[in-house]
Amino acid sequence: MAKNKADKAEKPVKTPAAAKPGKPAKAAKPAPAPATTTAASSAPAINIGISTAEREKIADGLSHFLADAYTLYLKTHNYHWNVTGSMFNSLHAMFMDQYTEQWTALDEIAERIRALGFKAPGSYRQFVALASIEETVLEDSSDWRAMVTDLVAGHEAVCRTARRVLDIADDADDAPSEDLLTQRLQIHEKYAWMLRSLLQ
Ligand SMILES: [Fe+2]
Repeated sequence: MAKNKADKAEKPVKTPAAAKPGKPAKAAKPAPAPATTTAASSAPAINIGISTAEREKIADGLSHFLADAYTLYLKTHNYHWNVTGSMFNSLHAMFMDQYTEQWTALDEIAERIRALGFKAPGSYRQFVALASIEETVLEDSSDWRAMVTDLVAGHEAVCRTARRVLDIADDADDAPSEDLLTQRLQIHEKYAWMLRSLLQ
């Protein structure tokens, strides 16, 4: 899933003073602490050039993003199973395309959290606590418009969370997390557009 970085190779190296328009300049960062082993493990401590505090902030943001993405994945799969009515064929197939893509992405998000040195949330209780998206129980499964409207709102909520975490990753120069979140934004914005188009 790595995206083409050819254009990025041309960019000048970022300096701590570089800032986006409208954003305050970044403060110079102290050099990350050297690798040391911990008492609990013989494995060397993580020393990838991002401080522990910044890795923790990014991992926390990605955990919220994972919870939102998982909740939206499950909603989409739920509607794939339960949609009825005149739009059944097209929506059953469309929802399957979308939940399949989202399911695959969940693994990449969780594994990025692990690569940053933190545990990925993986229980329904954790996801409910972390997600900004509410679970929905639709009584009328023939109300496909309500399902599609709910999914549009879900994709937009995922996008808002992704943008918030993207800012945190950008502040730490964490390009892999920025890359992952940018790819997810492209997909979720596209799905929001496709679903919204059904209602127009
Ligand atoms: Fe199915």
